[in-house]
Amino acid sequence: MALQHYIRLDDALCAYVRNHHSGQGDPVFLDLREETMRLGAVAEMMIPEEEASLLSLLVGAMRVQRAIEIGTFTGASGLAIARGLTVGGKLLSLDRSEEWTRIARAFWGRAGLDDRIELRLGPALPSLEALEAEWSFDFAFVDADKTGYDAYYEALLPRMRPGGVIVFDNMLREGRILGRDLRRDPDTEAIARLNDKLREDSRIEGVLLPIADGIYLCRKKEGEASLPNRH
Ligand SMILES: C[S@@+](CC[C@H](N)C(=O)[O-])C[C@H]1O[C@@H](n2cnc3c(N)ncnc32)[C@H](O)[C@@H]1O
Repeated sequence: MALQHYIRLDDALCAYVRNHHSGQGDPVFLDLREETMRLGAVAEMMIPEEEASLLSLLVGAMRVQRAIEIGTFTGASGLAIARGLTVGGKLLSLDRSEEWTRIARAFWGRAGLDDRIELRLGPALPSLEALEAEWSFDFAFVDADKTGYDAYYEALLPRMRPGGVIVFDNMLREGRILGRDLRRDPDTEAIARLNDKLREDSRIEGVLLPIADGIYLCRKKEGEASLPNRH
């Protein structure tokens, strides 16, 4: 007999799971969501509240000092990560949109997180490649253009401390990851290739979690090369 080691989530069970995490009803997060909704269809890019809770939890549990996110948007993930940092911790947040990150800055200010977050505007890969040598990270969250994820991964990995964690968002592509002809959707094709690459990659240990739109948690193995000069 084959054991079924998972449960099927219908809408009711999904709603139940989504209703069981800490930090619900946070006024800053709720107001940020309302403000983001005013932008129209793009608002769906904002991470859901339970994913924000997970990011805070991970960052807090790891006692993160230095974090980076690629894909700021209106600031929800930045808010969650910055809140989890240890005293004196810093988050570097990369995005190319002045319009959307203006909202992020306003809400980070309201949450009293200004001094913990440094926002850099511009295309993310050049920003990453131009990072000062002293920046290295305990935690990274990747949530920008999907065809760029692999390049972000390769640029980030040497800057992660051994044991550091990279979290990739949207790794199930709302289920399209199982699509028969991925070539029709370059974003999903890129994510499918990265999911397979991460499974085989001996530099990390990783697990794909079916929370939100699917997140891949990757921990850089001890003994893997890192850039010198910790920040
Ligand atoms: C899915 S949203 C990020 C959502 C955000 N993490 C949150 O919690 O709400 C993706 C963001 O990536 C940014 N982006 C997309 N491609 C980019 C690139 N090549 N360089 C920099 N930012 C990029 C977009 O401007 C957008 O704000």
